[in-house]
Amino acid sequence: SGAITIDPGYKNSGSCTSEITFLDGEEGILRYRGYSIEELADKADFLEVSYLLIFGELPTATQLEKFENDIRKHTLVSEEMKSIIDGFPRTAHPMGVLASLTSALTAFNPKPVNPNNEKEMYEAVCKTMAKFLVIATWTYRKKMGYPLNHYDNSKGYVENFMSLMFELPTGSYKPDPKVIDALDKLFILHADHEQNCSTSTVRIVGSSHAGLFASISAGVSALWGPLHGGANQAVLEMLQEIHDNGGDVDKYVLKAKDKEDSFRLMGFGHRVYKNFDPRATIIKKAADDVLVTLGVDDPLLEIAKKLEKVALEDDYFKSRNLYPNVDFYSGIIYRAMGIPVEMFTVLFAVGRLPGWIAQWKEMRVNKEPIGRPRQVYTGYTLRSFKEVKDR
Ligand code: CMC
Repeated sequence: SGAITIDPGYKNSGSCTSEITFLDGEEGILRYRGYSIEELADKADFLEVSYLLIFGELPTATQLEKFENDIRKHTLVSEEMKSIIDGFPRTAHPMGVLASLTSALTAFNPKPVNPNNEKEMYEAVCKTMAKFLVIATWTYRKKMGYPLNHYDNSKGYVENFMSLMFELPTGSYKPDPKVIDALDKLFILHADHEQNCSTSTVRIVGSSHAGLFASISAGVSALWGPLHGGANQAVLEMLQEIHDNGGDVDKYVLKAKDKEDSFRLMGFGHRVYKNFDPRATIIKKAADDVLVTLGVDDPLLEIAKKLEKVALEDDYFKSRNLYPNVDFYSGIIYRAMGIPVEMFTVLFAVGRLPGWIAQWKEMRVNKEPIGRPRQVYTGYTLRSFKEVKDR
């Protein structure tokens, strides 16, 4: 075959055409199906946005109500799944548990969905949105040693996420509606981001015609890494470390600039955004609002603001276009909401789920070929084999 171009990290290679998400990294523009992220975060709710991403249009009131109801119908998770989660040690990272449980769902849903059959696909979407939410909250309850909870049909999807995690048999959990709104907004901001690492993983796994749950489970694993969704946990841990060591922000900025040191400022930089990350702008404001609403005075937010200021004025960061990304402020909000740091990336996964589903569906409906990159071989040419006794 002809010459092969290698592009490690696919910095300049497109893998598909897509009608789902538009992203302009120079201008800091993000749109889902043509609607700006600012407007969606302000006016829509997460299920509406999920519907928009997956089915291409904003739902009518009837469609939205039906969607919510149809998701509810699937929120019971098989009893056997409980024994699977029981088998994990409480020290297991929730993302590992989530990937495993998502994969385990294949055992209870063995029939592969036909992406071209609208009815079947719709059912699969509702089922995935339902089960994934429930098992995501179970990873937290497992960690805390709480009994597993059931979906409450009198509450909305995002409110359920919080009560599934925090409601205890003894008490009545009543989250502040402003907290639910903020979480809804955060999920919208995370809902899709074109061909990022986890989404590309979902598409490439699905391109072999592996099922939806199997593809999403692979996406969860890809999201886990600290250079991708795992950055939200890494940011908080970094802020905590700076705080515990006396709050010397400059020292960490120097470390990040030192090419001999592998340390990077977590929550800074982006493969595509080279001016600003529009999601970070919205989240920064939401973080301030949530902290005021909850009356939280978090010293880590002060450190974050100092870090941002130093980094934005420093030539190293300016010349490389390294700006705070979506993960920089989200952790501060999650922390204020009482969510433990190991759960942060699980929240990212719940938000990203509709994007993964939409991209999987588009890839299959477009009949994309199996993903199979080439390489340039740089190993030995032909060598003759020596028997073990002669080596
Ligand atoms: N701190 C210090 N230096 C950095 C950072 C950082 N956070 N990010 C990039 N650089 C430097 C890097 O060392 C390189 O310098 P040089 O040209 O001197 O070798 C230059 O900037 C370009 O970096 P790159 O690694 O080639 O860029 P990339 O597009 O391959 O990586 C990234 C993008 C997001 C992986 C990277 O910026 C990074 O590691 N950031 C920290 C982790 C993070 O916050 N990830 C979340 C990304 S947004 C949400 C998501 O995807 O989940």
